[in-house]
Amino acid sequence: MTSSFPLFAAVPLAARDSILGLNEAFQADTRPEKVNLSIGVYYDAAGKIPVLSCVQKAMESLLGQATPRTYQPMEGPAAYTQAVQKLLLGADHPAIREGRLVTAQSLGGTGALKVGDDLLSGICPKAKAWVSSPTWDNHRAILEGAGFAVGAYAYYDAATGGFDLAGMLRDLARAKEGDIVVLHACCHNPTGVDPTAEDWGKIIDAVEQHKLLPFLDIAYQGFGDGLQEDSEIIRRFAARNIPIFIASSFSKSFSLYGERVGALTVITANADEAKRMLSQTKRAIRANYSNPPIFGASLVSSVLNQPDLRALWEEELAGMRDRIREMRLMLRERLSAQVPGKNFDFIVKQRGMFSYSGLNAQQAQKLRDTYSIYIVDSGRICVAGLNAKNIDYVAEAMAAVQKG
Ligand code: LMR
Repeated sequence: MTSSFPLFAAVPLAARDSILGLNEAFQADTRPEKVNLSIGVYYDAAGKIPVLSCVQKAMESLLGQATPRTYQPMEGPAAYTQAVQKLLLGADHPAIREGRLVTAQSLGGTGALKVGDDLLSGICPKAKAWVSSPTWDNHRAILEGAGFAVGAYAYYDAATGGFDLAGMLRDLARAKEGDIVVLHACCHNPTGVDPTAEDWGKIIDAVEQHKLLPFLDIAYQGFGDGLQEDSEIIRRFAARNIPIFIASSFSKSFSLYGERVGALTVITANADEAKRMLSQTKRAIRANYSNPPIFGASLVSSVLNQPDLRALWEEELAGMRDRIREMRLMLRERLSAQVPGKNFDFIVKQRGMFSYSGLNAQQAQKLRDTYSIYIVDSGRICVAGLNAKNIDYVAEAMAAVQKG
């Protein structure tokens, strides 16, 4: 046996993933006081990842009926894809009635982005893609993997801790006709800073005016202000006569991370276009993973399609949303006490699971090394990992690393 293979000799060690790599490091940390605020996962008040009761009930009922585990349609079952469309656009949306939507089950939101980007690379390979500065790191990786050049548009204003509307509009005006613009429909990841309804009006106008292709990423529907409120931007875009791509996910809203349940939805101009786009979507899926897995999506469609389970889900989702809000208030209070004179209102203004804390990479590393508190190097913290037991410890540590 040779001691090394020439083929692999020059293969470099890849950098640790900025989010999943930290999650691995957290799992390996043996210190009992450790706190995981790195990955976008909701933990309940007891620090556990919940199994939602609606999911538990759907699971019991599905496990009671042992149906054959045959291949699924490449785009997933209609009961699932239709439920997704209604959740995103509303049950009586004209685009649904007119058969203008294409929806395919995907492997989480990431899978939707992957299939969508592959699809676009066949349709508009020369387009440039634009992502917010900052964005979820994987946006860029997936777009580049599909062959797109990726640029960044201004988004977060570090000076104010708010949204840079003027910068974003300036950068969108520089994009070329046909370019792809990735937008976070709600609960911006990583900053938690969302444009106001009025700002969105200007963004939508700019996208339409410059003839850009919006790719809306909605992975946190229900974690901002509510299911309806958080999908409002999708309906506002859909009111314009433009093509739209949407990547959606149930990982967070159903606490089904490992089941990988998401969807790619494309809004087209008419049923004939939808038919052709569906055929291309199926090709892209076939070449990636052939057809999607059954279990996770059947849990989601059981819940969404049964009124009693659906009502229970909405209640449980509201409970998660409210707990995150409560943690934001507590964190602001604790940090204000620890660092007098500094304004922490931004924490309660931000939406969704994340807060851009303002901490830098060195401070993030110090939190990890000294306190076993894991946050992303960008300073992003997952507020949904806080609870009444760990919040004082976290606030004290955050204050200590800021003092030097
Ligand atoms: C996150 O941003 O932490 C989540 O979306 C998990 C992931 O896949 O990165």
